[in-house]
Amino acid sequence: MKNFLGGLGLCAALLGVSYLGSQADADTPPGIEAVMENFQGKKNVHKQVKAALDGKEDWEAITKLTAKYAEAGAALNKLATGKPEKGAQAEWAKLCKEFADLSKELDAAAKKKDKNAMKTILEKLTASCETCHENHR
Ligand code: HEC
Repeated sequence: MKNFLGGLGLCAALLGVSYLGSQADADTPPGIEAVMENFQGKKNVHKQVKAALDGKEDWEAITKLTAKYAEAGAALNKLATGKPEKGAQAEWAKLCKEFADLSKELDAAAKKKDKNAMKTILEKLTASCETCHENHR
């Protein structure tokens, strides 16, 4: 059993290498870890946008953050056609696209200084984080 699992691991590693190799000269999208760095710790744009809305509403700062958010969403969408580490590909693709669309809507709402719309979209985004993590992380 141990050998069998070891073999699987080696195969996965080899597949990973050949996958990276075939992507190397293309416009390689950042991997999921790189995309998720936008939502981690101090860099967490999701948290920063929420905090900014509760603060003194500096719209210039808010739109800067939502532009970054939309960029991260677009980067996630580039991974939509890839295979998730876990879970079904079709669901993964749908979630990536949905997240990208929502992040774009968030940016558009920020440009219109529409705080209520932003709050609704942020709630949908939170649900999307959770759904994806439950099924694909
Ligand atoms: C389309 C799927 C998807 C969406 C949407 C998504 N994530 Fe993730 N996230 C992942 C996957 C997959 C990983 C594990 C990456 C790895 O292999 O390290 C991850 C990892 C993370 C991590 C790294 C630490 C950890 O717990 O693994 C953080 C933090 C994180 N996500 C936050 C968020 C937040 C906040 C949102 C929503 C604003 C979000 N994610 C939306 C798929 C997603």
